[in-house]
Amino acid sequence: MDKFKIEGGRRLEGTVKISGAKNAALPAMAASLLTREPVHLQNIPHVRDIITMAKLLAHMRCHVESPDIPPSEFTMQAENVSHAEAPYDLVRTMRASILTLGPLVARFGHARVSLPGGCAIGARPIDLHVQALEALGASISVDHGYVEARAEGLRGRTFRFPKITVTGTENVLMAAVLAEGETILENCALEPEIADLAELLVKMGAKIEGAGGPTIRVQGVSELHGATHRIIPDRIEAGTFLLAGAITGGELALTACQPAHLGALVSTLRQCGVEITCEPSGTVHLRGAKRLTSADVTTAEYPGFPTDMQAQFMALATQAQGVSRIRETIFENRYLHAVEMMRMGACIALAGNLAVVTGPTPLSGAPVTASDLRASAGLVLAALVASNTTWIDRVYHIDRGYEQIERKLRAVGARIERVTGRPE
Ligand code: EPZ
Repeated sequence: MDKFKIEGGRRLEGTVKISGAKNAALPAMAASLLTREPVHLQNIPHVRDIITMAKLLAHMRCHVESPDIPPSEFTMQAENVSHAEAPYDLVRTMRASILTLGPLVARFGHARVSLPGGCAIGARPIDLHVQALEALGASISVDHGYVEARAEGLRGRTFRFPKITVTGTENVLMAAVLAEGETILENCALEPEIADLAELLVKMGAKIEGAGGPTIRVQGVSELHGATHRIIPDRIEAGTFLLAGAITGGELALTACQPAHLGALVSTLRQCGVEITCEPSGTVHLRGAKRLTSADVTTAEYPGFPTDMQAQFMALATQAQGVSRIRETIFENRYLHAVEMMRMGACIALAGNLAVVTGPTPLSGAPVTASDLRASAGLVLAALVASNTTWIDRVYHIDRGYEQIERKLRAVGARIERVTGRPE
């Protein structure tokens, strides 16, 4: 199993190119199931979840090809889908497999998707996906660990999500585009990945208004056609590199970003004393503070502070002067990284969904274990400022969502290596 070996204490300087957004690419790939024509996607990040989604589509007999190695573009053609099924082996490695449920039932009238279990960050049920698809007329049963959906043609109607859900909004939007009549979805997620998916669907012939806002209106069409679409930049990868620059007191330029998607994080970093300037061309410049100051954050749905940046911000808070209060409101168990950071010397008190970080505290290198994708990123940031060597185990978590993180970090001065085997 691969590990990272990180020698801390280097100031990061230079330029990092941000990849396409994993969480926008995954629903876009699932959307290719909605048409028999080819869907061509560009700016796809080369990360493990994308490979899993490609395998899942191929398992359904959707033709998936890429012109380059490593792939940054994919063409998917779901002309002959013979297995409308997402098997357990693939779903357990990637919950986003649930995104195939909506498109499959909308186009083929039948879908069978293994029920995703809980994961390291919380129980993560899919009841809202199910409720909304039922509202559109699908009959859904859960049997032998699989969600099975059947419909003889979905029918548009109004559905209000009782709670905001990102993939729930995406799944149901993909179903609604082929439903008969008008669907109105209320209390939708506002994440930029939803608007990006809607843009692709509109290029495919769907009629959608309001995506990116709380109410989305869809006029169903009888079929969709092929399209070419460029995936938006990854705001979480960009945010992680901003924090890497900030925690090391460095100076970074991030290119190929969408600064408008980084609002909550940028204002928190400015509060901590970090200088950030954004160019409309998509480059963000960061100059680290001489002395970081603490800040309070509460994770929230977009445009609030992203839960996917909470672990990385916690690493920064350990180096900031004063007390930072972090409140996690999206997932119920997203503090496993805190315990590992404490093993490195961080002063963190946990009480329910509140983490109180008192800084600055010197961190010392230690063997630590990554528990999920963003927790791993938080540990990498902590290791960048820790004395001596930090070994991070289970880095397969980070490979799910960050493209070549160690190469990108090395290119701006970090000492990080991928090692196979045990530390000596
Ligand atoms: C998406 O997950 C992202 N995944 C997550 O990214 C991200 O952390 C999360 O949104 C929140 O921003 C993808 O886009 C592929 P939710 P999703 O449904 O859609 C509850 C990463 O590291 N809920 O918006 O699964 C749920 O338990 C990740 O890249 C229900 O109760 O998140 C949570 O408390 C991990 N019932 C809250 O809603 C449901 O049916 C928000 O979850 C669905 C969700």
